[in-house]
Amino acid sequence: MTIGVLTGGGDAPGLNAVIRALVKRGTAFGDRFLGIRKGWKGVLERDAFALDAAAISGILHRGGTILGTSRTNPYKKDGDRARLEEGFRALGLDALVAIGGEDTLGVAARLSESGFPVVGVPKTIDNDLSGTDVTFGFDTAVSIAVEAIDRLHTTAESHDRVLVVEVMGRHAGWIALHAGVAGGADFILVPERPADLDAVCAAVLRRRERGKSFSIVVAAEGATLTEGAVTKDAEKDAFGHVKLGGIAERVAKAVESRTGLETRSVVLGHVQRGGTPTAFDRMLASRYGLLAAEMVRDGKFGWMAACRGGRFEPVPLREAVEKLKTVPPELLDLAATFFP
Ligand code: F6P
Repeated sequence: MTIGVLTGGGDAPGLNAVIRALVKRGTAFGDRFLGIRKGWKGVLERDAFALDAAAISGILHRGGTILGTSRTNPYKKDGDRARLEEGFRALGLDALVAIGGEDTLGVAARLSESGFPVVGVPKTIDNDLSGTDVTFGFDTAVSIAVEAIDRLHTTAESHDRVLVVEVMGRHAGWIALHAGVAGGADFILVPERPADLDAVCAAVLRRRERGKSFSIVVAAEGATLTEGAVTKDAEKDAFGHVKLGGIAERVAKAVESRTGLETRSVVLGHVQRGGTPTAFDRMLASRYGLLAAEMVRDGKFGWMAACRGGRFEPVPLREAVEKLKTVPPELLDLAATFFP
């Protein structure tokens, strides 16, 4: 079989580990692989190369994706759907493995519903994909964020400052929650539950009353305030996402003006997505790649490789993309234990 592989959407540490495992396992089954460049754009443009043993050598520990990625959405522009289907045929694919998040897998689900043999692999550092317990890249992003928060602790303490740290998380606060709890934050802001700026200030002041001279506040980039969402500009990408950013600065300004405490904001941004994956993410990604190769062999098209309750098993692609996996209210309540 000739199997195409593509990576779409924002990159995530561990993508290369998936590709490597998939190709190694599939090659053992007698399959050959084509690496499709830049996500769905590569199918539209028929831009692919042989993904052989040499191509996957030495990539396990490397961040990013050797295939490149894009946010091209073939269902967005008139005529692109036909180009996508023609591209699939022209590349001579017997199957396609699409590695991506909600948007990329949404396209995969539609394509498979049109009769094309597609298998999905879940990817997002945000960990907000349904149908699977965890996505690779998340552990790396949280580790990077926690290391940054640990570093910010010492400088915040030296200067008696409040530091507001903005982490990734467009619609879900998983990174903020995990990094915030692991990093000992005094308040965590997430998209799932609008935060009241007065409550943030009160938490900071209570900590001072307890004798601490500094505070760390963690905010997901998509966190909402009771007074409304914070967005950078109205421009949207091909999947309709607005550019986020600015929440940390907004919170920092409010904290400083309302409490009189010196406050700084830090945006961790794409640092969270770059560089080498953790050992956990390399293992998780490898398991997804191995399973995807088996799913192609077994004709499990229209399904996604998933990890549920510690078991690696296929789930229908539709189940994964229908709704986002957000942080449940009971977990948010539990986290609040740490910032009374
Ligand atoms: O892939 C998810 C994500 O990491 C979001 O948390 C973030 O909003 C987005 O990617 C930003 O990515 P880019 O700048 O590449 O569009």
